[in-house]
Amino acid sequence: MVEGSAEGTTLFSPYKMGKFSLSHRVVLAPMTRCRALNGIPQPALAEYYSQRSTKGGFLITEGTLISNTAAGFPHVPGIFTDEQVESWKKIVDAVHAKGSIIFCQLWHVGRASHQVYQPAGGSPISSTSTPITGRWRILLPDGSYGTYPKPRALETYEIPLVVEQYCRAAINAIRAGFDGIEIHGAHGYLIDQFLKDGINDRVDEYGGSVTNRCKFLMQVVQSVVAAIGADRVGVRISPAIDHLDALDSNPLGLGLAVIERLNKLQQNNAAQLAYLHVTQPRYTAYGQTESGRPGTEDEETHLIRSMRKAYEGTFMCSGGFTRELGMQALADGDADLVSYGRLFISNPDLVLRFKLNAPLNRYIRKTFYTQDPVIGYTDYPFLSKGSGESLSRL
Ligand SMILES: Cc1cc2nc3c(=O)[nH]c(=O)nc-3n(C[C@H](O)[C@H](O)[C@H](O)COP(=O)(O)O)c2cc1C
Repeated sequence: MVEGSAEGTTLFSPYKMGKFSLSHRVVLAPMTRCRALNGIPQPALAEYYSQRSTKGGFLITEGTLISNTAAGFPHVPGIFTDEQVESWKKIVDAVHAKGSIIFCQLWHVGRASHQVYQPAGGSPISSTSTPITGRWRILLPDGSYGTYPKPRALETYEIPLVVEQYCRAAINAIRAGFDGIEIHGAHGYLIDQFLKDGINDRVDEYGGSVTNRCKFLMQVVQSVVAAIGADRVGVRISPAIDHLDALDSNPLGLGLAVIERLNKLQQNNAAQLAYLHVTQPRYTAYGQTESGRPGTEDEETHLIRSMRKAYEGTFMCSGGFTRELGMQALADGDADLVSYGRLFISNPDLVLRFKLNAPLNRYIRKTFYTQDPVIGYTDYPFLSKGSGESLSRL
């Protein structure tokens, strides 16, 4: 989009994302909530996602495991068994009944795991055999925090097998009724462990040059696109986020390199991806501390604008957006869609509250990752009756 052409665009301007017609631009960001007991989506998830659905809205699920080696949090849902697919159907149906579309975020944490989450207590897999430093702690199933163990670097021949797991998970997501999937290539997890030169120390075709470091992500994208169609595939990256030691010596260069390859893939396939989702540099919290080092105005603007300008397609931003900042980003043409995380946890009717410019509930961090199906999950209050328009009118 040409800068300036977005004048007058607000969070409530409709948007056509490929074949999907959205009635507003307030997207539910993917958020791990640890309520899928033993990896199976529970009825509470149907309630949670349904509460956050609006007519013409767009939701992205929490990170959802592509295989039995993918977990790094307790009680995260998977999408690699038939039982999981069957359970997801009920959640997708509840969201569709409210008129929203919903994408499933496909996740493998790579080295951000622990033996306790691995089959037969094995080592987590990664691009590297170097562990995440003691600066970061892993949440264990009993609620305590531990250190990240030494991972096992994948052998070259094993990498296509992991690509295949993403592909099968994407096919399963479509079987479950999802409108599409988002590939989680952000925040220091498996794909980011290949992308970032601060982690990837491989000497094979998946390490070294930026082309080699992008190879795993691009193989995943290509394989998923071939299986379910480009218009059902979103990609998330966070080149400027150092969560879990995911540092790169040239974040903008890396972001642009990914974008160049996504653009080329779109041209080669003569089809657009659903969107590219980029996390703002200022967001480093990710549930562990209240806030990380904020990016300066210049960093934020330069980085995100450069990527936005380079990407040929729908561009979604995430991280630290308020109602005002979201409005601003859209009016300035810096994004087509804005995803909201923490504010959507504590405000199930965030879309209506933004529309009315109503006060917001505060989120309670200590229940972000707990297992109670109600407390801190589905019990945040809606605006009281009579406070304005009903959601169905949005
Ligand atoms: C509790 C919690 C869980 C999250 N889980 C995920 C996740 O599974 N996948 C992901 O890509 N991002 C995840 N994020 C990041 C959010 O998608 C979002 O980008 C982040 O919260 C910044 O947006 P906000 O400032 O509106 O909260 C999570 C964030 C929070 C607070």
